[in-house]
Amino acid sequence: MSNNIAIAIDGPAGAGKSTIARLVAERKGYIYVDTGAMYRAMALYFIEQGIGADEQERIASVVPDVEVTITYEDGEQIVWLGGRNVNGLIRTEEVGKMASASSGSIAVRRKLVELQQALARKESVVMDGRDIGTCVLPDADVKVYLTADSRVRARRRYEELKKKGQDCDLDVIEKDIIDRDYQDMHREISPLRQAEDAVLLDSSHMTIEEVAQAIIGLCDEARRE
Ligand code: DC
Repeated sequence: MSNNIAIAIDGPAGAGKSTIARLVAERKGYIYVDTGAMYRAMALYFIEQGIGADEQERIASVVPDVEVTITYEDGEQIVWLGGRNVNGLIRTEEVGKMASASSGSIAVRRKLVELQQALARKESVVMDGRDIGTCVLPDADVKVYLTADSRVRARRRYEELKKKGQDCDLDVIEKDIIDRDYQDMHREISPLRQAEDAVLLDSSHMTIEEVAQAIIGLCDEARRE
């Protein structure tokens, strides 16, 4: 057994998981593992191969060819697809939707869960995703289910896109978020759900700092036990 610590943060799209997980990892000196980025890198591969979101058999057949690896530079996770750093290519709506659709594939999940578990064996991690507390790290020291009202999540996304100068519509963003939640919560394998032993945090009316402090408090509590 290793002495590594694992903090699992699950929740729906746009709840602030990555911002919070990155901050907690930085404060605790742990590695931040963004598992959504791995599903996005796989999705990018499928898109580039011209595979459609509903072609589950083709998705499964090419999974053995996809090479997703993770490295860290100054604490920042870099996702490699083959020999290519794809960090700058995976944050689009198109890739997000394909990631949500293709993450229902058992072949995709098996491959990425293995990679995630290997990372947690080597290092203390703050890992965020949809199935971390329920499947990837069932023995995590701290489990958090981070959520927020869909309107609040849509507004955060809207502000982010506006800041980048992109034209967007709040209602369309909220509908996309609700559709993605539905897809992630209703797939057959490892659907998004709160682990029985996870602490529920609703960030609708909390600041980033308040959420981070709450999680760090849970880590301190876990260490004392
Ligand atoms: O967190 P994100 O938006 O980057 O994730 C993209 C998609 O990847 C998400 O809609 C569902 C899938 N995903 C998953 O199935 N399991 C994870 N642990 C992380 C992401």
